[in-house]
Amino acid sequence: MTVTIVGAQLGDEGKGGVVDIFGDAVDVVARYQGGDNAGHTVVHEGDEYKLSLVPSGAVRGKTGVLGNGCVVNPRTLFDELDALRERGLDPDVRVAKRAHVILPYHRVLDGIEEEAKSEDDQEVGTTGRGIGPTYEDKAGRRGVRVGDLLNPDVLRDRLEYVVPQKRALVENVYDIDIDDLENPDAFDVDALHDEFTAIGERLDENDMLVNAGEFLSAAIDDGENVMMEGAQGTIIDIDHGNYPYVTSSNPTAGGAATGTGLSPGVVGSGDVVGIVKSYLTRVGSGPMPTELGGVEGDTPGYDEQGEGENEELATYIREEGGEYGTVTGRPRRVAWLDMPMLRHAARTSGFTGFVLNHLDVLAGLDEVKVGHAYELDGEVLETMPATTEEWARCDPVYETFDGWPEVDWATVADDGYDALPANARAYVEYVEEELGAPAYAIGVGPGREETVVRHDPFE
Ligand code: IMP
Repeated sequence: MTVTIVGAQLGDEGKGGVVDIFGDAVDVVARYQGGDNAGHTVVHEGDEYKLSLVPSGAVRGKTGVLGNGCVVNPRTLFDELDALRERGLDPDVRVAKRAHVILPYHRVLDGIEEEAKSEDDQEVGTTGRGIGPTYEDKAGRRGVRVGDLLNPDVLRDRLEYVVPQKRALVENVYDIDIDDLENPDAFDVDALHDEFTAIGERLDENDMLVNAGEFLSAAIDDGENVMMEGAQGTIIDIDHGNYPYVTSSNPTAGGAATGTGLSPGVVGSGDVVGIVKSYLTRVGSGPMPTELGGVEGDTPGYDEQGEGENEELATYIREEGGEYGTVTGRPRRVAWLDMPMLRHAARTSGFTGFVLNHLDVLAGLDEVKVGHAYELDGEVLETMPATTEEWARCDPVYETFDGWPEVDWATVADDGYDALPANARAYVEYVEEELGAPAYAIGVGPGREETVVRHDPFE
């Protein structure tokens, strides 16, 4: 049996927590896209773990798989595994041989390109982890795959082809002297070959390399439960998001098939659970029609649309929700829930149900708004337009809900759905109605136990 977890918004919807809540019956947790740009915090037996690459289930003794659709920075991978081992855990993580490797030059190039774009205010606000440049090389058929690290001759051939191109890019296009860079070794074939051959040996010795599709199919055939854990979210999907303010992979459910080697039929035979935060946040640039505000100077994309006049409310929600980037520490821009965005997400991934997180964060407000539809050029739109320029011109048509009080959320979680304040239930039921899918769970606090679970997709 499989269950796929998909971020319905702009990332940071609390996917790691959901993997956790539904994770008891899970044997294998597989990531299908992205790399160490993701950030999740897992609380296990009172200890907090911050991970960016290792699938969150690995903290709880599940087998973690980084699928072929991922881009893997082996330095991050080993740092995270070593840190978990130092804390007494014994994580079991497998890496697809078909996954692409983030090499040190990818990170440098990510920074250089963002810097160049920022001269014309065109930066994406990437996490700087080299994600885009690695996927570019994958599509350009000049990437290095994890499996290549096992064969020093193949690795040398790949590096000897690609590194001179990267050097020329830095020196001739961006006019930067490689020797002036902080880490010129990132562009040195021999240094890269030494380091990454040793990484290949370590991956091999630790028996970490798999053919992901085969490995996951065998697990399913053996009756194991597989959870596919999407990173990032629908609106930063390279195809279905607000291009170019996107990441370079497919967080939507289709990515779960191409990024693991399981068929769309296998993915579609299980639940696809959309993870929705009760409001909206964004860490990078790009429009956000229901925006309340960002932090001037600190939030890339701040005031992108001349919005941001509701700073006080944005600050309140940011502080209550702890809305600061896990990977970067950047304060997040904050907005009201955007229903056209969610309808688009539900259609793209085919949500069979959803989890509504952080409902407690909005408690205590007099009223809570939702962008129910958009108005664009005199027309009312129920879903997002396909171009980012049009999206930026959309005016939200708000629906206003009466607020709900702060209550003892742990007790509510114990007592179940009917214990939620009536106005909070009205909010949940509105989202259910609009998405045509049931709320499987409602997050009412950061802890695992602070969740109202109505349906476990593995049962
Ligand atoms: P990249 O994935 O580092 O290339 O960044 C591309 C865009 O995706 C930027 O706007 C990032 O802020 C955003 N992004 C990447 N990873 C995450 C995430 O885990 N949560 C939220 N936004 C993300």
